[in-house]
Amino acid sequence: MSKKTTVCTAIPYVNSVPHIGNILTDLSGDITARYFRMRGQDVFFQVGTDENGLKIKEAAEAQGRDPHEFVGEIASRFQSIFDATQISYDDFIRTTEPRHVKASQELFRRLKANGHVYLGKYEGWYDVSTETFYREEDLVEGKSPDGNEVRWVSEDNYFFQLSSFGDRLLRHIEENPSFIQPPNRRNEVISFIKQGLRDICITRKNPGWGIPVPDHEELVIYVWFDALINYIAATGWPDEGWEDKWPAKVQWVGKDILTRFHATLWPAMLLGIGLPLFETVAAHGWVLLAGEKISKSKGNVVRPLELAEEFSAKAGISPELAIDVLRHYLTATMSLENDSTFTYEDFDQRYNSDLANDLGNALNRTLSMAHKFVGGAVPSDEVEAEAIDAIQRAKDAFAAAMTEYQIPKASEAAMGLVRFLNKYIDTRAPWALAKNSDPALGSVLRSMLLCIRSAEGLMRIFIPTASDAIASQFNLPGLTQWDEIGTNASLPSGTPLGQPQPIFPRLEIQKGSSAKSAKEAAPKKEKAPAPSQPMQTETQSTITIEDFMKVELRVARVIEAEPVEGSDKLLKLQLDIDGEKRQVVAGIRANYSAEDLIGRQVVMVFNLKPAKLRGVESQGMLLAATDSDGGAILLQPDRETPEGAKVR
Ligand code: MSP
Repeated sequence: MSKKTTVCTAIPYVNSVPHIGNILTDLSGDITARYFRMRGQDVFFQVGTDENGLKIKEAAEAQGRDPHEFVGEIASRFQSIFDATQISYDDFIRTTEPRHVKASQELFRRLKANGHVYLGKYEGWYDVSTETFYREEDLVEGKSPDGNEVRWVSEDNYFFQLSSFGDRLLRHIEENPSFIQPPNRRNEVISFIKQGLRDICITRKNPGWGIPVPDHEELVIYVWFDALINYIAATGWPDEGWEDKWPAKVQWVGKDILTRFHATLWPAMLLGIGLPLFETVAAHGWVLLAGEKISKSKGNVVRPLELAEEFSAKAGISPELAIDVLRHYLTATMSLENDSTFTYEDFDQRYNSDLANDLGNALNRTLSMAHKFVGGAVPSDEVEAEAIDAIQRAKDAFAAAMTEYQIPKASEAAMGLVRFLNKYIDTRAPWALAKNSDPALGSVLRSMLLCIRSAEGLMRIFIPTASDAIASQFNLPGLTQWDEIGTNASLPSGTPLGQPQPIFPRLEIQKGSSAKSAKEAAPKKEKAPAPSQPMQTETQSTITIEDFMKVELRVARVIEAEPVEGSDKLLKLQLDIDGEKRQVVAGIRANYSAEDLIGRQVVMVFNLKPAKLRGVESQGMLLAATDSDGGAILLQPDRETPEGAKVR
């Protein structure tokens, strides 16, 4: 069997269903696993659940449930949430499974045989909520440093000689700068170890739940000690074949469980039985809600599927695409160094700015113009150097970010390519090239198509469903291999392109509301247009030339056009007026489609006071004649005119 690239994730407790903070650990693992697969590596990606804690037994009992049945149910809910959020795991390990029990007992035996475990009396405080031991001096006003209730424990127990591993751990961290990511966490771990590691109590009196200590059935293995072993239990250790999957390339954890557990205790356990250490432990910050860590015990949770379902209804997109929105939001806003704050408003806004606007416009403009200007098939012309450079820059930045497990920076690199494309379209102005029969038109269109195709590949690890939708609008299979991204082979000339279909329609965000539920965001009734004024006679009112000159009329170019959500009359246009951008909402949808307008010149009232139509700001008005049915006939300069030219 080939050597695997193993990606591990901290396994959540099963005392309750997961929130978006828990999901972040698994999502980080998923993004990493998908990236390595894209790079052609044979990945083994582990996830699972931590089921042996005392608090889990107590949670089951509080509900009058049998603990086995209770954990089984919650574990399968975790599994179905991982499936629904597209966590592409290869193995879901539960710490109540026989393979995990066997590995835990064997590791215990070997540590003991190697002289790293001894029997002693444990007296101290225990925080059931985080399954952590504390000394008297660690307590803050009689509670754990996290503010949880603690209980006094006095038992004969086994201890692990963690104190004897400090120097070896420090040496390893110093010799392997990428052992702990990000670097600020590495410094925290170093100073923690330098303060001196204490031996740790690794058993508890058997409460009828947990993994029995070999030859001492009256004791169970301390839950943290057993949970860490899941990483090698999942490889099949101690049975044959585990070496293909170990050492892990990376282990993902949240910052709260890095220092005491994953960067000290776990590597010391591995050193104690002579197993190689994982290459990197990467820690992400917390997701905060209203300034506090989202936490099951605090009850301030946002659940991933509920959030996605609500958003799917509100934005009118499929539940699978709403999962992509969640994946994009969490990975784009997460931080390894700091915490990030979740708000519903921010969630909506990021959807609009990144997915509906930047990605949606780039895709829509590119496909519309390919249909309008080059017959709806991929042209065979050369890609312009500017676009080749932009794609290469995005790939390099993406790969550099992933080397350091900087997921938000990789996301930014992919979005950067999309933003480049929108600017490129503005500056290369294919509509002008078409008007002037410029031979560069084919190259510009091919460059645009290649940028979007490459962005589809780069964004695939974050938003797999949307990437598939983009690929299918290109009539091409999804781009799944890193080396193909940006190549000519990824975009065969002559491929017939589909019509652009909006993947992420723009969301109408109501100011001041968190836009939390579908009901709150239900489309407002469209206001009836103001009745038109009766035609005025000369005697009723005339204006002077000075009056007329107050109206500033200018030539503008339509660079983007899209329907206003929920309205069958309005189109939202982005206009270019000699480098200045204006957004204008026009009631011309009955007579013009968005595609008809892109690239076309129009005449606009430039100094009209901005107004909102269906909640969308309009910064001007287009001039149109009215046909016999009251429909609009847009005015257009008689011949190509420089944008911004005054009309009088
Ligand atoms: N069971 C232990 C891990 C054992 S690993 C051998 C545990 N479970 S947990 O359910 O509390 O947390 C699971 C993961 O979710 C951890 O990586 C933890 O850091 C992460 N998060 C829990 N709450 C979080 C936030 N509010 N924000 C981000 N991640 C946080 O710890």
